[in-house]
Order: sequence, then C-alpha cells, then structure tokens
Amino acid sequence: MDEVSVKGWVRTFRSKRFLALNDGSVIHNIQCVIDFENTPEETLKRITTGAAVAIQGNLVESQGSGQKYEIQVTNIEILGDSDAEDYPMQPKKHSLEFLRENAHLRVRTNVFGAIMRVRSVLSFAVHHYFQDRGFVYVNTPVITGSDAEGAGEMFRVTALPAQNPPVNEEGKVDYTQDFFGKETNLTVSGQLEAETYAMALGQVYTFGPTFRAENSNTSRHLAEFWMIEPEVAFNDLDANMDLAEDFIKYVIRYAMEKCPEDLTFLNQRLQEEDKKKPAAERSEMTLLEKLRFVLENNFKRVSYTEAIDILKNSKPNKKKKFKYIIDEWGADLQSEHERYLVEKHFNSPVILFDYPADIKAFYMRLNDDGKTVRAMDILFPGIGEIVGGSQREERLEVLQDKINELGIDEKELWWYLDTRRFGTAVHSGFGLGFERLVLFVTGMTNIRDVIPFPRTPQNADF
Ligand code: 4AD
Ligand code: MG
Repeated sequence: MDEVSVKGWVRTFRSKRFLALNDGSVIHNIQCVIDFENTPEETLKRITTGAAVAIQGNLVESQGSGQKYEIQVTNIEILGDSDAEDYPMQPKKHSLEFLRENAHLRVRTNVFGAIMRVRSVLSFAVHHYFQDRGFVYVNTPVITGSDAEGAGEMFRVTALPAQNPPVNEEGKVDYTQDFFGKETNLTVSGQLEAETYAMALGQVYTFGPTFRAENSNTSRHLAEFWMIEPEVAFNDLDANMDLAEDFIKYVIRYAMEKCPEDLTFLNQRLQEEDKKKPAAERSEMTLLEKLRFVLENNFKRVSYTEAIDILKNSKPNKKKKFKYIIDEWGADLQSEHERYLVEKHFNSPVILFDYPADIKAFYMRLNDDGKTVRAMDILFPGIGEIVGGSQREERLEVLQDKINELGIDEKELWWYLDTRRFGTAVHSGFGLGFERLVLFVTGMTNIRDVIPFPRTPQNADF
C-alpha cells in the first residue's frame, strides 16, 4: 500500500463515492474512492465535473473492474469549483463541432487530450530525427519581406495606422514610412532562408509556424499551420525523396512507440464511429493498421506524366468521371485526382515527381526537357498532399531567367541569389505540413481538430 497525492480535474463522480480523476498525463482516469461517511456533505457537493481537486490517499489494487489500481482517499481538497450546470464539458459525448466552439476546454476531453499528447510527441520526434543525424535547427524569421511560394497568399504586417495611412505620390499606401521601411508579411515558408543556411551548415531544418491567407475553407487548410522544412546541400531529388520517406516513417514509428495508449484509444474511437456508417463507407483498415501499413511499405514513386496517363485512362466512380476532367498534360491535379491515385489506383502513399514547371514555384530545378521541374509531392491516403518539396535551381542564370519571366523583382531576392553566386551547389529540401501529419497519425478528419487553436477564415475567436 503506497501513500500517494495527486492533483487533477474531476471527470465524473458517482454514488458519492467513485471519483474519476484526470490529471492530463495519460488517457486513463484514476479511480478515487471517497470515504463518504467521513467526508463533510459540503465537500461532497463540491465534487463536480470539471472541479480541480487535490487528493491524498492509499494506492491499492482495485476490486472493481475497469482499472487495476484505485486510490482510497484519506483527504480531498477542492482547489477550484466548477458549476455543474454551467460547465460546457458535460460527462457525455459531445460533437466535434461543439468542441471546436470550446477550443479552450475541449482539451479536457479524452479525445483532445490524446490528440494533443500525440502532437507533442510527434514534434519531439521531429527534433529527435534531425538532431540525431547532425542537422542544425534554424529559426527562420516569421516576419519577412519575401513571398517564398510566389502565390501572393500573405498576411500583411504593418505598423501604419489603419485610418489615414501615409500615401505616396501615386496615392498608394507609402510603405517606406512603415516600421521596416518596406512591405512585409508573415512568412509562408522558411525555405528561402533555410537554403542560405544549408549552403553553409550542410544539413538544416526549420520547424515553426507559417501563414497563408488562402481563402480555402476546407478540412485540410489552416491560415496558421506548422511546417517542418529540412534543406540539404548536395542532395538531389532522389536523396530528397529518401529523406522524406525515412523521416515520415521514423516519426510515425516514434509516436506508435511512445503513445500506445492514446493511439489505442483513438483507434477504438474510430472503429466505433465506423460502425455507425453504412457498410460501403466503412474503412478497410483500422487506424493502427493504416499506420503499420505506411511503415511496412515503400511509397510508390511516380512521375507527373505517368500519373496523368493513369488518370486519363481511369474510371474513378460509377459515373466514370472526375468532376474536373484531366485531359491534357500540364493541368494541376485536384484533390479528387490525388485521392484516386493514392486510395484507389496505388493503394499506397505516393511520391509524385517531375511536375510541369508552370504549376510549380520559381525555385525548382528545371529538367533537361525544359518543361518539367524536379518537384516532388507526397500524397497520403485520406489526407492528400502531406509534403511538397524539390531539388532547387542552383544555376544562377536559369534562376534569374525564371524570376524575370514571372515578373518577380530580382532586387528583392538579391540575398537569395547570392547563394547561387558564391559557391552554389546542388541542394534539395521539402516542407511537411505538421497538422496533416497529426491528422494522419490520430485518424482525425478535420485539421481544426489537431491544432490547439485553429485559425481559419472568419475564425480567430480564441
Ligand atoms: O507545398 P508547400 O506550399 O511547399 C512549401 O511551402 C515549400 N516552400 C516547402 C519546402 O520545399 N521547403 O507546403 C508544404 C506543405 C504541404 O505539402 C502541406 O502539407 C502543408 O505544407 N500546407 C498546409 N497545411 C495546412 N494548411 C495550409 N493552408 C497548408 N498549406 C500547405
Ligand atoms: Mg504544395
């Protein structure tokens, strides 16, 4: 018999006796048995769902089913009351939509506790992987003057007054008078800065928040998301693919090893959800089976051109048509095509490479065919694109031509072009969307449910 003391929050309290306590460290509640005859009625009334309590007692083997041990309480102190009527997290199943409206409290549920612990372990795994292999962690800036992806989906950063900002001769806002003396924005990617560091430190990675003002209200997009971006000098595209595949498998395996209870819980939850669905819509594999499948199989590597041929000749559904028909080389793939390739045709994670230059960013290395670039996207079942990366254009003139062709101001990128002027070399990297990884590992389906406080269009309430 061990004397223990524990602090946490009440999940349920039954028959004035059985208190299920959770302290956030693990999914399981601790069963605490209250000696109600010797506990003042006033205290018993205050043991309500959500209340914070401090408990002292003896840890003993439990007579009841459901848990191995329980605490026989010798003393309980109510640290913080919780009005049972008002408390939003009632001891019942709440919808994910309802929980999203209570982002500050939803982490007190089993599901969100599990997701957020898995998220934390995954982020540790990211550092573990790279640090073990000699990569240097680089903190790239959050405020930048550049648009790394050239997609114009940026949040402006300004210290100018919203009312009557200074204007220039053309009547436009005069950013030379702004805080930084120029237009700035929140970063969409740390890649360009990471590249400059890779050209000195060899192997580097960033892991930080990135921001995109793309107005896509989907279950896969956030306005603020975390991205992991390794960048490696002397790596070509094949080495980049090898790194990405090895890295993804490592972090998934790491989570499976460190979070068996949370993942088993999420697995069961999904199986229960699945049972409610019509037979045709049920998943063929459980969450844990899906994770193991990824670990045990090689990702399929397929060129864009091969993928287009497959898509042109395929009959995706009863209507035998995609919503958006791919009929010519050069078209960008929509998520229905990506899902078809991954979930129906290959039935495996897929690395698509050598995309048409016109649908990819300016910094990717042009192939000898003059029309494709050394790009790679990794597509995952149920998720779609999880990684975007490439071998970078290391040839100064080719890069300058591209920049000019796209009408990007070369002067803005003088520092980036310097890496091509002084000791340029083959190099590659990729960006992994951290929340999309967490989605895959937890089996959740909406990206809003795998980040503590999601930022999406019309929503920054917390
Ligand atoms: O494909 P993207 O735009 O690539 C880059 O930003 C490169 N600069 C990365 C690099 O090569 N260093 O984004 C990379 C990944 C995507 O594959 C996706 O997983 C994720 O970032 N991502 C998003 N995740 C959540 N919400 C969004 N709005 C996202 N946009 C991209
Ligand atoms: Mg991409």
